[in-house]
Amino acid sequence: MATPNSPRKILVTSALPYANGSIHLGHLVEYIQTDIWVRFQKMQGHTVHYVCADDTHGTPIMLRAEKEGITPETLIANVHKEHSADFSGFLIGFDNYYSTNAPENKALSQGIYNKLKAAGKIATKTIEQFYDPVKNMFLPDRFIKGECPKCHAKDQYGDSCEVCGATYNPTELINAYSAVSGAAPVRKETEHYFFKLSDCEDFLKAWTRSGTLQGEAANKMGEWFENGLNDWDISRDAPYFGFEIPDAPGKYFYVWLDAPIGYMASFKKLCAMSQQGADGNQKVGLDFDEYWKQDSATELYHFIGKDILYFHALFWPATLEFSGHRKPTQIFAHGFLTVNGEKMSKSRGTFITARSYLDHIKNPEYLRYYYAAKLNSTMEDIDLNLEDFVARVNSDLVGKYINIASRTAGFINKRFDGKLNPSANNAVIAEIKAAAPLLADSYAEREYGKALREIMRLADLANGFVADKAPWVLAKQEGQDALLQEVCSDALEMFRLLTLYLKPVLPKLAGEVEQFLNVAPLTWAVVDASLSAQHSINAYAHLITRIEPKQIEALTEANKESLQATPVPPAHSEQRHAQHQQNEANASAEEPAYISIEDFTKVDLRIAKIVNAEHVEGAEKLLKLSLDIGEEKPRQVFAGIKSAYDPATLIGRLTVMVANLAPRKMKFGMSEGMVLAASDERGGPYILSPDNGAQPGMRVK
Ligand code: MSP
Ligand code: ZN
Repeated sequence: MATPNSPRKILVTSALPYANGSIHLGHLVEYIQTDIWVRFQKMQGHTVHYVCADDTHGTPIMLRAEKEGITPETLIANVHKEHSADFSGFLIGFDNYYSTNAPENKALSQGIYNKLKAAGKIATKTIEQFYDPVKNMFLPDRFIKGECPKCHAKDQYGDSCEVCGATYNPTELINAYSAVSGAAPVRKETEHYFFKLSDCEDFLKAWTRSGTLQGEAANKMGEWFENGLNDWDISRDAPYFGFEIPDAPGKYFYVWLDAPIGYMASFKKLCAMSQQGADGNQKVGLDFDEYWKQDSATELYHFIGKDILYFHALFWPATLEFSGHRKPTQIFAHGFLTVNGEKMSKSRGTFITARSYLDHIKNPEYLRYYYAAKLNSTMEDIDLNLEDFVARVNSDLVGKYINIASRTAGFINKRFDGKLNPSANNAVIAEIKAAAPLLADSYAEREYGKALREIMRLADLANGFVADKAPWVLAKQEGQDALLQEVCSDALEMFRLLTLYLKPVLPKLAGEVEQFLNVAPLTWAVVDASLSAQHSINAYAHLITRIEPKQIEALTEANKESLQATPVPPAHSEQRHAQHQQNEANASAEEPAYISIEDFTKVDLRIAKIVNAEHVEGAEKLLKLSLDIGEEKPRQVFAGIKSAYDPATLIGRLTVMVANLAPRKMKFGMSEGMVLAASDERGGPYILSPDNGAQPGMRVK
């Protein structure tokens, strides 16, 4: 590792989010983790560029645009705006946020492909694939549905059954149909292009063992090598939204071929912008080749989630190596987000979008702080516990950190005209300064939790100092003015140092503190400087407020109601599939692949008689139901079925409810269970009806 005083040239990326969905709190783990690291390295005085882009290609985006009646270009332009706003709302400081559907990316992808071909790494093979004869297109596995060959559940996806968890080939499905047109797919031959990964094994083995990966990731790679590397299918047939393969009419690059090249393209665009001096700083003259040539002396870091390790640690370095480019310096993989200890869930209201967080909680730095407090350098999952989130932010940021200024600044402003007069020598300040190297190491190593624990320990010392000197007592005593000024000045110097240390995590708040303290933007170099005698500070305005638990309630509520009636689109289906082919468990956060019978029996399903149903004043999607399940009193349940049912027609019907769902307080009252209903893009919700003979209260199992 280079010494802190030799400036380094560093290029950093986060994974490119798909352009077919909104940014959610799971994604933000990664962008916040990366942004903190980038801001820290910039504060060290290194030259750092942070680029990202939307990942725009592939079948799901093509089909979604078609369904919405717009072109894919319009769809991805809209999403680009939305994503950009979300990221800036969370203070993610990309130097460029681009798109994979860009001329630079097309040129780079085709150029790299040509190099791979010249290096003998491309082969063609005729394969048989499912084809939709109505829609006239080949179907990715996830767009084929049918009956599970193992448990005979209907309407399962072509690669795995969500009921019994079996994985299989789409050819094994019973009565397969196209999820696009409903037609029975036919098998059809087609020529595909392959990247001969099996040829790259020696290189990849050496590369993955060269210290570029975390230990756990290197172990994972070991397992993959044991299973043997398959050649990688990099082509898709028209119609496909993507880039055409040179000299192969009707053949397109598979989205995962051009997606990582999007890192290069975004940087290429940044170089062009810097050439024009568009961002008006010293980046003028940024040189693409200096960063990407084979023997580059610059550093390249990719932050990714553990689910896309395969692509970044195998396909990507092989692509770079055999097209004559540099390889990543390191790949930093992180774990997945859970909320309240469980996978994010639409029904629990914990599948929270970036936008709804900003609408309800407003302050992005609370989440940045909380994630940082939980993050380390491993691939372990991290949990957002919403109660702990409130407690932690309120106690650390408001109770400890801001408290130092709020208890002392007023005296300096009111009694000393804003002028400081610190002591010559303060043991607490000395201890806070001495922590700088350790904190720098923790940030550099992505041990943010460790850094923040130390910073809060230092904040405790500062608060102890203030409590001990009790400026509010001094202020009332005769002849203690000098001491009062000294104590408050020292406390504000402690506050300055803690702000510097927290700045990678809390950049906006730090900016406000710089303003208040009347100092230049804090960098790591000014740890050694101090606020001097006669330095004037500005008036202190309250910098941060507590989070109220009711904001959290509103947040989960909003994500419950808005999502209840929204069918869940099939997850980023096609793109994930390459991993299934490699027998890698799908780590997608959104829904678990399968549950055990024990899990299932935890759900208490009961036959319920709808004894009353009515509209709810002010609710867009909900009906209020009274459900008799043989208990003393009917249950009150709010169900998101207003769009499909006139309440009068429901009264007297039997249906099925989840009887042991924890009661939850909704905007309109308590909901004491849940009724089940079917829906997807073809319609719904449709509630369930039991066969004749079922009685209220009978258990469904
Ligand atoms: N488009 C690909 C990446 C291409 S990179 C050349 C992709 N997109 S994604 O939108 O699904 O995910 C973007 C990043 O967010 C990935 O690194 C992924 O691991 C991360 N996360 C998505 N959901 C997440 C959680 N629930 N928790 C933590 N990270 C998550 O993959
Ligand atoms: Zn099954």
